[in-house]
Amino acid sequence: MIYLDHAATTRVRAEVRRAMAPALDSVFGNPSSAHAGGRAARALVDAARDQVAAALGARAREIVFTGGGSEADNLALRGVAQAQGERPGHLVVSAIEHEAVLETARALTDAGWALTVLPVDGAGRVDPAALAPALRKDTALVSVMLASNEVGTVQPVAELARVTREHSRALFHTDATQALGKVPIDVAALGVDLLTLSAHKVYGPKGVGALYVRRGVALRPQVTGGGQERTRRSGTENVPGIVGLGVAATLAAAEQASEQPRQRALCDRLRALVLAGVPSALATGAEGAGRLGNFATFAFPDVPGDLLLVRLDQAGVLASAGSACASGSVAPSHVLLAMGLPPTVAAGGLRCTVGRETTEAEIDRAAAAVVEAVRALRAPVPA
Ligand SMILES: Cc1ncc(COP(=O)(O)O)c(C=O)c1O
Repeated sequence: MIYLDHAATTRVRAEVRRAMAPALDSVFGNPSSAHAGGRAARALVDAARDQVAAALGARAREIVFTGGGSEADNLALRGVAQAQGERPGHLVVSAIEHEAVLETARALTDAGWALTVLPVDGAGRVDPAALAPALRKDTALVSVMLASNEVGTVQPVAELARVTREHSRALFHTDATQALGKVPIDVAALGVDLLTLSAHKVYGPKGVGALYVRRGVALRPQVTGGGQERTRRSGTENVPGIVGLGVAATLAAAEQASEQPRQRALCDRLRALVLAGVPSALATGAEGAGRLGNFATFAFPDVPGDLLLVRLDQAGVLASAGSACASGSVAPSHVLLAMGLPPTVAAGGLRCTVGRETTEAEIDRAAAAVVEAVRALRAPVPA
C-alpha cells in the first residue's frame, strides 16, 4: 500500500503515542480536580500548551484547545462575529477555504451577516490587491487560510493581514491546519489575530486541535459549561489528545526545515513522471515555494476523478480527488472551479500528498499506477 493522502490524515507517530500513554493510564485525573491526580493531569495540559505556543511563537495563554481544526475554525468565525454585539456586520473569506470556514461563514449570513468571497488566480492564490476594496467599516473578520488543503498553494497571509490592519478594524484569522510543519509559522511575523491548528495532519491524534487567540481579542465561547480553557471552550480537557498535539506540533516545527525539501523533491519527481506519461495532464496549484512541499496535484481532462481513485485504490495507491462527493454525485471541487478550471477538467482532479515515511521507490510506483489508470480510463470501450 502506498499512502499518498497525508493531507487527509496521518499515522500517529511513535513519539506521540509514547507521550500520550501515561495520560491514558496513570495520569487519568480531571485537570479541574484539586487533588494530586488532577494536578498531574493539569501539568500535562500546561506543558502541551507551552509546546503549542512555542511552535507558533505565541504565549501559552493565547492557546485554546479544541476538538479539532473544524471546531477551531467555527470558534474563530462565530466567536468573533458574536462578540461584536447584536448588529450583524461583514465577513471576508477566500473562495478556496476549507468547508469549516466556508460553511460557517455562509451560516452566519443566515443570521444577517454580509459576506464577501475573495477570488483566487489560476494557481489558487488570493490577490492582496483585491482585499482592500472588499473591506468595509463594519468588516469584523477576514479569514484566509495559510495553505490550501486541495492544491497546497501558500497564501500571502502576512500581506493580507497587513492590508486588513491598514484599511479596517477587522480581525484576521488564518487556518494553518495544512501549513504546520510545512512552512515556518510565527504569529507575530504573520500579523494574525487568530490561527487554527489540527493534530491529526501532523502525526498527532484525531479530534484535537487548537485556536491561537491573540491577547485582547474578544471571542464568544461556542461550547459553554464548566468554563475550562479560561471560559473560551468548556468541557473536560482531552488530556491524551492535548498531550499528543503538543508533541506533534513540536516535532512538526522542529523537522520542517529538514523534511520539507525532501518531500518537495519527491513531489517534483511525481509531477514530472505523471506529466511525462500523460501529456494532457495539468499540474494544479502554484510552482516552487508557492506550494507546500508535500503536495503534487493534477487535473486530467475528461477523466472522472472518482473512477481514477478507484483504479488507484485497486493498484494499492491511496490518494484523494480534488472533488467532493455529495449524495452519490461527484461535484467538481469548489477550489479547482475557483481557480478557473472548466468543470470537465476540475472533475478529474487528483491530490497526492506525501509524508515523512514516503520513499522515492513509492513515488515511482505511484506515478506508473497513475499513468496506467488514466490511460485505461481514456481507452475506448470495446463494442
Ligand atoms: C485546511 C483545513 N482546515 C480544517 C480542517 C478540519 O480539521 P479537523 O479534521 O481537525 O476538524 C482540515 C482537515 O480536513 C483542513 O485541511
